[in-house]
Amino acid sequence: MSDYVVDLSDVRREYQTGEVSTVALAGVSLKVARGEFVAIVGPSGSGKSTLMNLIGCLDRPTSGTVKVSGKDISTLDDNELTALRSRAIGFVFQQFQLLPLTSAVENVAAPLLYQGLRPKEATKRAGAMLTRLGLGERLDFDRGRLSGGQQQRVAISRALVTNPDLVLADEPTGALDTSSGAQVMDVFKEMNAEGRTIVLITHDLEVAAAAKRRIYIRDGLIERDDADTKAGAR
Ligand SMILES: Nc1ncnc2c1ncn2[C@@H]1O[C@H](COP(=O)(O)OP(=O)(O)OP(=O)(O)O)[C@@H](O)[C@H]1O
Ligand SMILES: [Mg+2]
Repeated sequence: MSDYVVDLSDVRREYQTGEVSTVALAGVSLKVARGEFVAIVGPSGSGKSTLMNLIGCLDRPTSGTVKVSGKDISTLDDNELTALRSRAIGFVFQQFQLLPLTSAVENVAAPLLYQGLRPKEATKRAGAMLTRLGLGERLDFDRGRLSGGQQQRVAISRALVTNPDLVLADEPTGALDTSSGAQVMDVFKEMNAEGRTIVLITHDLEVAAAAKRRIYIRDGLIERDDADTKAGAR
């Protein structure tokens, strides 16, 4: 199996709206190895969400190849794609997206139940993950009784609990104040230090500074890649 969790080769994505075609990605090649912590940075409209949807197996390219966890997604049907997504990727979104009227521990246990784990085991693992992220005292709180930063830590626990190959985060600090945002970034740094592969998307350079590698995109193209710079490739 490939050591690259993400391997994009000359990926184009065009959107067709009636007569108008928009080139959102104009030929992007990008490899993310196991254990990397990458920030994808770019201004509004540069193609970040389009890229995230492709890496997250939520969309298919117009041309080029997208491999996630060694699998070429063009060879998978929709059911196989869904299966790959639930096995290989943990998603973290800007707006947390916790289920309403559902406790923290139930939120985190949900993907394990979906994967077929028994409720007792799922609850145990979810509780352990939340405790690791500092929420051991709040397992039974629903989202209405959690701060934004705490809700995002629940969401991160939910993304990590299935032990995915990749954690994919879209503006994870976008809805948080500076100090909760910094705490969330500390959680990502810690998880990466333990070997988790993280790709996060942001327009915030300060947030991007927490990552080990920064990829700048503009007008659907990679403009600069810090890792390349370090390796002396440019
Ligand atoms: N479903 C769609 N249909 C048509 N055009 C789209 C669609 N989604 C995105 N686009 C266009 O593709 C380009 C890239 O959009 P994308 O959403 O990837 O940008 P972004 O970097 O995520 O921006 P933002 O920071 O504002 O979220 C933009 O020009 C956008 O208008
Ligand atoms: Mg976007």
